[in-house]
Amino acid sequence: MQKRTMIMLGLVLALTVLLVGATSVFAQSGDCTDCHNDTTVITGKKTATDESMHGMGESYVRGTRNSCVGCHSGGGFSDMVAAGLAPNELETGDPDPTRQDCRACHQVHVTYTAADWALETTDPVAFYAFEGVTYDGGKGNLCASCHQPRRGIAEVDADGNIEVTSTHWGPHHGGQGAMLLGIAGAGDVEGAPGAHATMVADTCVTCHLGEGADHTFEPAMASCTGCHADAESFDINGVQTEVQAMLDELGEKLIAAGLLDEEGHPAVMVMPADQANALWNWIFIAHEDGSLGVHNPAYTKALLEASLAVFP
Ligand code: HEC
Ligand code: HEC
Ligand code: HEC
Ligand code: HEC
Ligand code: HEC
Ligand code: HEC
Repeated sequence: MQKRTMIMLGLVLALTVLLVGATSVFAQSGDCTDCHNDTTVITGKKTATDESMHGMGESYVRGTRNSCVGCHSGGGFSDMVAAGLAPNELETGDPDPTRQDCRACHQVHVTYTAADWALETTDPVAFYAFEGVTYDGGKGNLCASCHQPRRGIAEVDADGNIEVTSTHWGPHHGGQGAMLLGIAGAGDVEGAPGAHATMVADTCVTCHLGEGADHTFEPAMASCTGCHADAESFDINGVQTEVQAMLDELGEKLIAAGLLDEEGHPAVMVMPADQANALWNWIFIAHEDGSLGVHNPAYTKALLEASLAVFP
């Protein structure tokens, strides 16, 4: 009798130890509380994301169209990555498009552990508008999946002209990946990947999120000073000022020639190829790239010099 009770008690004790052990292991890691806990691991990033264009831009509504869904709907992007397709290969839009939210970039609610902070993709990106060109910039590949151009400029026709087909003509917003590689500009200008494509590990992510993974996606000075020790602004050696001045001059010349309106929209018409090239380059640098030369100083300046030379 006594012996049996002892065994029973021993069993109960062992079970209790096991259960308590198991639940405490569970509560520490490997489950919902990895992320849903009293830290700001989610809310900290959410506050910043909500203030970024990813979190408040209005272009996500374009995600209802098949030709836009891969980049403009967060959910559409995740589906595209899972299917291994490019943005121009999608056949249906997303009836419920989302912004570029946590789920677009991270694998949220896949394993239901902290491992789900893994990025949706970091695979090199074959630019679909440029045969044979691949963006291979570490974690920045995530960004370049969407921040890639949708088209290059058309071939020159038999009469030496190029047709500007609509007021939305150009490489499309998001040409940053191409600018880093030194492609997608128009005319006879040699481009090459600059130091910021080849020397900055993780490219976009290093400059635009930095050490603390800042989710405003705005570049931080701290990501420059590792290499540009004395830099006090992004306008290193006055490059941004210089590029802005060249853009202003080119813009005025394009407006004077009737190729660009005051709002920055191109004239829809057939024009000599060299003028179309200059117009394209202005749109690419002023509207689409947005870094005022930082992404690829040498290529940006070469494109602007060649474009200015069209209007003596
Ligand atoms: C990798 C971190 C992570 C883990 C682990 C995780 N979640 Fe989440 N969860 C998130 C994020 C990020 C959101 C979206 C937050 C936002 O947008 O406000 C979210 C949102 C939610 C929401 C709100 C509704 C929704 O779907 O957006 C619920 C409910 C939820 N999670 C439940 C769970 C449960 C239950 C588990 C475990 C079985 C779990 N989560 C594990 C990160 C995580
Ligand atoms: C799923 C596609 C997608 C991915 C992935 C993506 N972006 Fe974006 N990004 C967009 C879209 C679309 C917008 C414009 C949103 C709007 O205005 O509605 C945008 C806007 C931005 C802006 C603001 C531009 C402005 O005009 O103010 C920055 C900066 C930016 N992205 C950087 C990044 C970086 C850095 C990454 C990688 C960490 C990244 N993006 C990943 C689609 C994407
Ligand atoms: C390859 C990815 C990609 C595809 C496909 C794409 N976009 Fe975009 N789009 C972007 C990115 C990235 C941005 C943000 C760029 C930035 O702000 O620098 C953007 C920005 C925009 C904006 C906001 C521009 C502004 O200044 O407010 C509009 C509008 C837009 N796209 C419309 C469309 C439409 C319409 C389609 C489909 C016909 C489309 N896009 C297809 C990547 C894409
Ligand atoms: C446009 C893409 C993008 C969006 C949107 C985005 N993130 Fe991130 N996030 C990143 C990148 C890139 C990193 C850096 C990853 C790295 O260095 O491995 C990161 C890092 C993080 C980290 C640190 C992860 C770690 O391993 O320590 C957390 C936490 C995080 N993000 C949460 C969120 C939450 C929550 C949201 C939504 C509110 C969100 N992110 C939205 C791209 C994004
Ligand atoms: C060497 C650092 C660096 C790298 C690498 C880099 N950027 Fe930038 N980016 C900048 C700086 C600096 C600016 C200009 C910011 C300013 O003048 O306020 C900028 C501007 C931009 C803008 C325009 C923001 C706006 O407000 O209009 C977008 C969008 C952008 N970058 C996206 C990207 C993407 C996507 C990649 C990778 C394909 C990338 N960047 C790589 C530093 C970098
Ligand atoms: C990994 C090192 C590295 C980082 C990080 C880096 N750069 Fe650079 N940058 C270089 C190198 C190397 C050059 C010179 C080579 C070249 O012009 O291609 C350069 C050139 C430049 C130039 C052209 C200067 C001139 O006189 O022509 C500018 C502008 C610039 N960087 C801005 C930035 C900004 C802004 C950041 C941070 C957002 C940054 N860089 C981050 C390495 C870096």
